[in-house]
Amino acid sequence: MISANETEPRETLVTGVRKPMPGEQFDALSKEILALKTKHNAVILAHNYQVSEIQDVADYVGDSLGLAQQAKQTDADVIVFAGVHFMAETAKILNPNKKVILPDKDAGCSLEESCPGEKLRAVQATNPNFWTVAYINCSAEVKALSDVICTSGNAKKIVENCPPDKDLLFVPDENLGSWVIEQTGRPMQLWKGDCYVHVEWTHAAITRIRTEYPDAPIVAHPECTKAVRMLADEVCSTEKMVTWCRATDAETIIIATESGMLHRLKKECPGKKFIPAPTEKCACNECRFMKMNTLEKLRDCMANLSPEIEMDPAILERARLPIERMLEISAL
Ligand code: 13P
Ligand code: SF4
Repeated sequence: MISANETEPRETLVTGVRKPMPGEQFDALSKEILALKTKHNAVILAHNYQVSEIQDVADYVGDSLGLAQQAKQTDADVIVFAGVHFMAETAKILNPNKKVILPDKDAGCSLEESCPGEKLRAVQATNPNFWTVAYINCSAEVKALSDVICTSGNAKKIVENCPPDKDLLFVPDENLGSWVIEQTGRPMQLWKGDCYVHVEWTHAAITRIRTEYPDAPIVAHPECTKAVRMLADEVCSTEKMVTWCRATDAETIIIATESGMLHRLKKECPGKKFIPAPTEKCACNECRFMKMNTLEKLRDCMANLSPEIEMDPAILERARLPIERMLEISAL
């Protein structure tokens, strides 16, 4: 939540790229944002990869599953979604009568790009017995073509609950899909998409950091490749990383996911040290889409109530069923 009276630079993470926002600038912007929130009866939902300033003014910070659950239950009139476009779209699908705005409508996702609706339709047509499980990182059109949605936080449970007589088609993340196969033993046909950030980690780079910190456990997101996942002590969604890091006795933990996560972890686990897993290039693992959002853009979108998520009503209606199905299975 908003903290006034900060005068020091706020960014505490070493990402190698991000410049600190001066405390006075943060205070001024956060006051404007708070006033706009009251004026519009708005709620600010932010993903764990958002810049630290956005996380610090949000009402809720979490993973894709937590954000969808929050969007489903909010009684706010306006949902301000600080994440990427498909996440804000999901909030709109769950709240067709509410205004859903986002700081930058061009904040996309490499996974979403990898799976256009027409290509999915063509693959689905090859097998009438396909049951399509779509990772939430996809367009509303792809959601509308799918039978059930999953996130990294519930993918195992969703697949375990798929009809046993169906042939599963998992889109669009090949790495998450192969991790779910390992977890469930259920065969699935996998779409060949990936997260351009998470595939940057290599077996060699992770092995090197492990040598440097031999006692530090490694926590990796399931969008990482198998070569990296096999070195990890825990593979989980961003929200489960918080739970896992709180519970472990380890005081130093290596994190293989987008850099915004480290701000959340430092806040949730004071006293612990988090090492961003290095890639072959650097340790500044930023998602360029997530980082399109800034505190200034957040203020502007709340002042203008724009950009707003607008969708084809037929796609919106059709996409709700597989998302609702996911939320129901998740709650079991
Ligand atoms: P989480 O749902 O685990 O937060 O993952 C979202 C995402 O985009 C990972 O790259
Ligand atoms: Fe998409 Fe990867 Fe960015 Fe997550 S980190 S939003 S999967 S591009």
